[in-house]
Amino acid sequence: MVKFGSIALLKGQIFMSDITNDLLLVVERLQNNAIAAIPTETVYGLAANAFSEVAIKKVFEVKNRPLNHPLIMHVAPEWDLTTWVAHLSDETQALIKAFWPGPLTIVFPVKPKAIHPLVTGGQNTVAIRAPRHPLVQALLLELGQPLVAPSANPYGKISPTTAQHVQQSFPVDDFIILDGGRCAIGLESTIVNEVAPGQYQILRQGMIDEHDIAAISAEPLIQGRSDTRAPGGLLTHYQPEKRLYYTDDIRGALSILEQQYQSPFVLTFSKSSCESGVWSYTFPLTSDRAAYELYYQLRVADLSLADCILIELPPNIGNWRALREKITKAGELILPHINETNYLELEA
Ligand code: TXA
Ligand code: MG
Repeated sequence: MVKFGSIALLKGQIFMSDITNDLLLVVERLQNNAIAAIPTETVYGLAANAFSEVAIKKVFEVKNRPLNHPLIMHVAPEWDLTTWVAHLSDETQALIKAFWPGPLTIVFPVKPKAIHPLVTGGQNTVAIRAPRHPLVQALLLELGQPLVAPSANPYGKISPTTAQHVQQSFPVDDFIILDGGRCAIGLESTIVNEVAPGQYQILRQGMIDEHDIAAISAEPLIQGRSDTRAPGGLLTHYQPEKRLYYTDDIRGALSILEQQYQSPFVLTFSKSSCESGVWSYTFPLTSDRAAYELYYQLRVADLSLADCILIELPPNIGNWRALREKITKAGELILPHINETNYLELEA
């Protein structure tokens, strides 16, 4: 990478933001009301001090995110939640004990006036998670304040899982990016809301699925698409730049797409549906490893010379559902057809 002053140049493209390993520099920026991209185990976040209105507004502005969309507050696992949370049930404490630090966001009733309304979206709840990534834990402890951090992508676009992906997502914005390597999980956290004591509703699917939660509390409910204030209310999300189609029937879909496109990039979950003679990638056969690759490979496909992307849907079971949810929000359905035998080789 060539540097001109504070401008970075990678393969002919100019980026304004610097990637750094200097944790204390990032702390200093955050203390001074700047925003910074931070690594987490799920995806990179675009962070602001949770008590700096100036910085929080910058996050909304840079992401082009509507102001009424609430943010997740990131805390160190050892911090006392009752500073911000009005009520903490025994069941929720059990969930915290089982899954924090880690990819589970919990929606809590907020203490009056404890949290800025830009964080809560003006609602009486606050979503909190304690990330597992050691660098963000060190950052939180050094800063001594919670951070709000939506995924570090422009609103509606695909989330970044490397520092370079953050840089590429915001070529003209200038903020520091803390390099924590490639995100170990690769998909956003699961979000749950306690609707009755010990009864949780999954608002957004992630790699902690309903079976994991049911092992600690009652069988959780899975949120439908109707609640516009909750995640997933948006019809499109996680979108690449190229046209993205999803299907259960790769061969059938390809025969339709070839009327309009010369060279689709095909992403499959089963080797048997792979076509020769086209750009293609087959995801690993376990859901954890496939999740790790999903956004990453969508970006590879997006940067290729292909003229559209076609992706196979993974099965509608277990935490494969988190991948399915992202794909169906990122693309458009082509040729609905279920061929269950495709999935037999996959592991739950
Ligand atoms: O894995 C993650 O959760 C990543 C990393 C960076 O931590 N963050 C993330 O943030 O995905 P974001 O802003 O892209 O998605 C957060 C979702 C939003 O869809 C928002 O609607 C929802 O969380 N949310 C935030 N506060 C909420 C609340 N009080 N009630 C319900 N949903 C809430
Ligand atoms: Mg997001």
